Amino acid sequence: MKVQLQTYGCQMNKLDTALVSSALKAAGFGLTDGVKEADVVLINTCSVREHAEQRVLSHLGHLKHIKESRPELVVGVIGCMAQRLGRQLLEDKTVDIVCGPGQIPQIVTLVREALDGKKKTLSITEKIRQKPDKDNALDNFESAYGIEDKEIPGQAFVRVMRGCDKFCSYCVVPYVRGVEVSRPLKVIIEQIKRLAGNGVKQVTLLGQRVNAYKYSAGEKIFCLVDLLSMASEINGIEWIRFVTSFPSKEFFDEILQAMATLPKVCNYLHLPAQSGSDRILQAMNRGYSCNEYLELLNRARAVVPAIAIAGDFIVGFPGEMEEDFQATVGLVKKARYKNCFIFKYSPRPGTNADKKLEDDIPAEIKKKRNIELLDIQNKISEGLSRQFLNKTVEVLVEGPSKKSHLNRRDSEMDSTSSPHNKPQLAGRTATDYIVVFNGPQTLAGQFAKVKITKTSALTLFGELNQ
Ligand code: 5AD
Ligand code: SF4
Repeated sequence: MKVQLQTYGCQMNKLDTALVSSALKAAGFGLTDGVKEADVVLINTCSVREHAEQRVLSHLGHLKHIKESRPELVVGVIGCMAQRLGRQLLEDKTVDIVCGPGQIPQIVTLVREALDGKKKTLSITEKIRQKPDKDNALDNFESAYGIEDKEIPGQAFVRVMRGCDKFCSYCVVPYVRGVEVSRPLKVIIEQIKRLAGNGVKQVTLLGQRVNAYKYSAGEKIFCLVDLLSMASEINGIEWIRFVTSFPSKEFFDEILQAMATLPKVCNYLHLPAQSGSDRILQAMNRGYSCNEYLELLNRARAVVPAIAIAGDFIVGFPGEMEEDFQATVGLVKKARYKNCFIFKYSPRPGTNADKKLEDDIPAEIKKKRNIELLDIQNKISEGLSRQFLNKTVEVLVEGPSKKSHLNRRDSEMDSTSSPHNKPQLAGRTATDYIVVFNGPQTLAGQFAKVKITKTSALTLFGELNQ
């Protein structure tokens, strides 16, 4: 039996898909990229913006047609949309399985049941904001799988926290991923040791607020710094990253100190600000002001001068006046991010912003602000990238460059480039810069030194140092 797995959304979802695919493989299922050969299609979904949900719904529409000629095809929806919409999704004739993020350990059973009897099954958390019982199913599932299935050779993601308790007013995560829980330190470290034993060189620690990791064992309370220093001692692990950080003072200086002193901890911080307007930040329930946020950036740069910082912003939040947006522009200019992810506000059912505030910024204004902010950030990114020109950087090679348009643009921009020197491999520096260069496929999963010969806002191009 063959399963096709499709993923929408964030790193958490990619990790869940990797866990599910390992579990299915271990149970004897094959995986396929094409729906034609698939007996089962599983879609891992995202609810963070309406657009992400719409893409899934149109995908289901496409599968509906396929099912008309192949009614035996099993279709499962897993992840955040499954948790959010539950029964409503199951009412869709196309859908056989609805399985929330907390139920993925059951996925093999659910798929087998669907294949056997074709009965529809719903498996989600009924009371998502109730603190989960000490049920180790998820943790065991997490630790047991995902070692063999690494999408990028030499790299692995390790969840250190689940859920979120922050309740930013626009955000659906606390309602679909549930109560914030830090995984036991020992379990995480054991998992990283096993990954290292399997050839993993880089681990990325994942959490919605990874810098808030807190686990008590007896008298002692462990935090992210403990994870970073213990992971640093594991032979074979060369680079350690962590995402995403929440702008808060708690542990902030300690984490920066760890970054400055532990050579394996990458000098990279993803620290979403969301807005530069204090009024909007308050309405978002973020708990800091623009100046407090900037103060964190100053501290980061004072302790770790080489640090690269990435940000997230939402434009067009309810009530965002032009002056609020200009405050965001001001923050972006001061922050000098390496790159920014910019999103148009999307009301999410059940969140406080959706319940209490009208989505009153017209779509075209959201779009205009999005473009304006991206343009400003692009110029900053271009300037920062240019500093790498003629320098040699160390990269961890991921594999063939997926974005073929980069190659195309490269040859368009540079008429002297022959097909021979077109970039082929992509990797990242410790500071998360994407580096594209020509080199043998065997370098995937290895470290390489690349001399940068050309730069753009988001990509450095170079030549392999032989
Ligand atoms: N609308 C738009 N963007 C959102 N994000 C989270 N919720 C929403 C929403 N309702 C963005 C935030 C967050 C990123 C993962 O997605 O910027 O950091
Ligand atoms: Fe959402 Fe805020 Fe939690 Fe991040 S910290 S997942 S934006 S509620």
